[in-house]
Amino acid sequence: MNQSLKLFTAGPVACFPEVLEAMKTQMFSHRSREYQELHMETIELLSWFLETRKTILLFPSSGTGVMEASIRNAVSHGGKVLVTIIGAFGERYAEVVEANGRTAIKLEFKWGEPVDLDRLKEALDLNPDIEAVAVTHNETSTGVLNPLKDIAKIVKKYDKLLFVDAVSSMGAADIKFDEWKIDIVFSSSQKAFGVPPGLAMAALSDEALELSRNMSGKGWYFDLYKYYKVQLEKKSTPSTPPIPQIIGLNVILKKIRDMGKYNWLDMYRRRSERIRDGVREIGLRLFAKEGFESPTITTIYSPEGVDGSIIYEEMRKRGFELAKGYGRIKKITFRIGNMGDIKDEDIDEMLKNLREVIEELKSR
Ligand SMILES: Cc1ncc(COP(=O)(O)O)c(C=O)c1O
Repeated sequence: MNQSLKLFTAGPVACFPEVLEAMKTQMFSHRSREYQELHMETIELLSWFLETRKTILLFPSSGTGVMEASIRNAVSHGGKVLVTIIGAFGERYAEVVEANGRTAIKLEFKWGEPVDLDRLKEALDLNPDIEAVAVTHNETSTGVLNPLKDIAKIVKKYDKLLFVDAVSSMGAADIKFDEWKIDIVFSSSQKAFGVPPGLAMAALSDEALELSRNMSGKGWYFDLYKYYKVQLEKKSTPSTPPIPQIIGLNVILKKIRDMGKYNWLDMYRRRSERIRDGVREIGLRLFAKEGFESPTITTIYSPEGVDGSIIYEEMRKRGFELAKGYGRIKKITFRIGNMGDIKDEDIDEMLKNLREVIEELKSR
């Protein structure tokens, strides 16, 4: 295992040192008073971060577990979900809808672009019987951040449920859960919070919770109402949670609180801008439409005729782990993540090496 690689990955990302340090602690039972305090404090911190007074839950799973739970708990059997697709993770949401016996009405947009608001309205007009709209907040394959606030406004005008995949945005882009009237938003620990994988977190509206309460055939492991009740009664989770990851998340949320939420989000915005500026200076083209660039990941066209994975391999040889292209644009792109423990000097060093790699490849 090469531990000296500088990570610019799409996740898992380089964890913050204070997170790794705190996770070394000896274990305690998830039914102990120590755990209850940790659990409820972490919920409190997440509520603050997502600006919500609604239900926050923690899950022993990655983010996809909660993606599946959103469908199983809050969409009727055979019910329709309008899935907006701007890249590979929107495609996954549609697959999850179908895999759970519901119907995905796919609303696809050109990769590299965000959801077009007029087309969203049109689709809602054409499909009055849909129950929910699914949105990828930050599409990790294309490096596009959707205008979630504007999307939410439209979805709520049509009085539909709104499910948001915030796996690669929560912790790096603003989410105002109550004000934007989101019904379910979920994320994973291994992305912008800079914590190891294994923990998912979600916020739920009262309506989503009520739907879960009455839903049949939702299974046991991802019964959202059960999570809510166990949290209320036992200040814990129904099955064993990833305690070290929760300790890590707790540490990072306190760091965000101390730094100030908007200063923290600004840190991510500035990092991603630094990368985009550097990439443009090298003469490479960005994949995301201008004005919708992700604060956590930059997708870049590889030069004409160069497979993106060669750039990934060449950078690895120099000590930098970037991310390969993903989904149908795998060959023509590569990606640079900026989540977790990354310093500006590391970004500059990575860009210097990227320039040399690109020049070398172009002269071959
Ligand atoms: C936007 C998005 N959604 C969903 C996932 C899947 O998350 P997980 O691997 O935590 O299940 C990812 C992972 O990269 C992602 O980037």
